[in-house]
Amino acid sequence: MNLADLNKIAIAMTEPGKGILAADESTGTIKKRFDAIGVESTEDSRRDYRELLFRSTEAMEDYISGVILYDETIWQKAKDGTPLVKLIEQAGSIPGIKVDEGTKPLPFCPGELVTAGLDKLPERLPKYYEQGARFAKWRAVIDIGQGIPTYTCIATNAHALARYAALCQVNQIVPIVEPEVLMDGDHDVDRCYEVTEFVLKETFQQLYYQRVKLDGMVLKPNMIVPGKKCKKRASVEEVAEKTVRLLKACVPAAVPGIAFLSGGQSDEEATAHLDAMNRIGNVPWRLTFSYGRALQAAPQKTWSGKSENVAAAQRAFSHRAKMNGLAALGEWKSDLEKKAA
Ligand code: 13P
Repeated sequence: MNLADLNKIAIAMTEPGKGILAADESTGTIKKRFDAIGVESTEDSRRDYRELLFRSTEAMEDYISGVILYDETIWQKAKDGTPLVKLIEQAGSIPGIKVDEGTKPLPFCPGELVTAGLDKLPERLPKYYEQGARFAKWRAVIDIGQGIPTYTCIATNAHALARYAALCQVNQIVPIVEPEVLMDGDHDVDRCYEVTEFVLKETFQQLYYQRVKLDGMVLKPNMIVPGKKCKKRASVEEVAEKTVRLLKACVPAAVPGIAFLSGGQSDEEATAHLDAMNRIGNVPWRLTFSYGRALQAAPQKTWSGKSENVAAAQRAFSHRAKMNGLAALGEWKSDLEKKAA
């Protein structure tokens, strides 16, 4: 392992004014997204859609530091035969790969899940590296509800995240460590804070036990937000203040960068929250985005599977990427959104 090189990649993934595009929806998840816009999900339609994103020159060159791919995509070629990975590299962006294999029920913990995929990881990682991946992602899912999360669920998922991260680093791949506390449910913002605090503390403890090098990783956490069904909403300032306060209490300064997931927030909410956090500033890590839905909802809708909409969809993607790029610098303004609409 060359830690200096891992650190360089982690720093490049969180370059100021740029962030990560999470385009790693599994075949099942992308089908749901395509169903919503009336597009049949086939190998070709998935390829066409992702090619559209990776050929969005303004977004990719100016605002997207890296792209998380799904296994199918990392082996795919664009219509003209260029590997999709090459398109990403040509734009100056870094290819990455989702390596977890989704979630399974956790024994004796009704309603809770554990992320699978460790067994074959040592054999898969060198192949992804050879294919161009310089970072990876593993997502653990923690749900909040009546009597959950249990310590069993938090500890089991944190342990798997740490095992994955160590395996990535010995294979010269930067791990994105993603312990996602879901925003489904009716819990309030303080319950999200309390659970996320426990999850992050446990995750960093397990990373330490597995000897993971903190300067060669990127953290991908949820923001501190109320559950979707909670009637008491939180202001942008409250979300930003609580998220920054919690991260300061849990994330060592050796971690180069933190790239948030959007987790079901609207695109503008996700942008406004990131911007407000960067306005607070005075933190030891870069704070940026690693959004899936909050970057792709607009281009997906605009595209709707029609080739004549490709250019407009690319503009929609570039707009969202730019707004989030500005938010990563604390320079976004809501009237920039209105001008584009
Ligand atoms: P969302 O931004 O849509 O939550 O997706 C990010 C991600 O990669 C979740 O694992």
